[in-house]
Amino acid sequence: MEQVLEEEKPPGMTPFFRARNIEKYLELKKVFFKFEGASITGTQKDRISRLHIKRAKEQGFDTVAVATCGNYGASVSYYAALEGVKSVIATPSYYSGTRNQEIYENGATVMELNLKYEELLDYMKDKTRDENWYDCSPGSPNSAVDIMGYENIAYEIYNQLGHCPSYLAVPVGNGTTLSGIYSGFRKLYRKGMISNLPKLIASSTSLGNPVVYSWRRGLRRIQNLEPSVITETHVNEPLVSYRPTDGQKALNAIIESHGIAQAVTDEDMLRFSRIIEKLEYIQVMPASSSAMAAASHILSRKTQEHDVVVVLTGRGDLWTTR
Ligand SMILES: Cc1ncc(COP(=O)(O)O)c(C=O)c1O
Repeated sequence: MEQVLEEEKPPGMTPFFRARNIEKYLELKKVFFKFEGASITGTQKDRISRLHIKRAKEQGFDTVAVATCGNYGASVSYYAALEGVKSVIATPSYYSGTRNQEIYENGATVMELNLKYEELLDYMKDKTRDENWYDCSPGSPNSAVDIMGYENIAYEIYNQLGHCPSYLAVPVGNGTTLSGIYSGFRKLYRKGMISNLPKLIASSTSLGNPVVYSWRRGLRRIQNLEPSVITETHVNEPLVSYRPTDGQKALNAIIESHGIAQAVTDEDMLRFSRIIEKLEYIQVMPASSSAMAAASHILSRKTQEHDVVVVLTGRGDLWTTR
């Protein structure tokens, strides 16, 4: 029988399990973890990187590029190397990304630019057009692929759980992951495969994200923030943003699902990542643990029967900055 190498397996089918120790400790009803951190490069980004690289190849590009703060760059450079495509990974120069070594080892060209992440996204839009590179960045003309990639998380949860959960907790930076997973559940609902949609619990940083800001104020149109009001830290970096590329989509999904957006402090992200490690024996990136922190905050007061799936997007040993 032909042996399937680890690298040849498509990203996905990440572990799903009931977190009974957490349930007991936090006095919650049924809690399930969808551990995206078990992906090859350690985050949910693998789901979309591979799709982008395949699409770039089909369209005849020999180079892919991305604006990133680390995790996505590690993933894009990995899958580009696997498929024999060149990759250009652009990062803000003020990050000293702990994943840069890995990105170099994947054979990527690293561009460090003195720009904020949101400015870098704009810069790469022009640069990729001028250089005839395929742009994998969030919000690029190719970003429909992202929603498709993340819809698979919803299909897997449905298959692994056997139904649609009453709540789904997801960390939000640009809002792409949450929008994509919700889009997957909507498709299942339209096909008649599930009879409800999950209420979304969108977790983000207390130090600046327009999705939480706009939801809290009851706004239907996302209100972006002034760059000066957000504070980026080592902990909140994947979630902090003044202009999230899919903020409107995420806000629409939260409103439609009658969900909640919850701001989480760095201290709580760190605390919950320690709790998860101690009780469930997996290392989870603090920003990803924000989803558990938010779910705990929101569901601890609910008395009626419910279940929650918490999407843990990243592994704990992969902090990207400083
Ligand atoms: C590990 C991790 N979790 C969550 C997020 C947030 O995802 P999104 O930007 O799709 O909202 C990111 C984004 O970089 C991330 O790296």
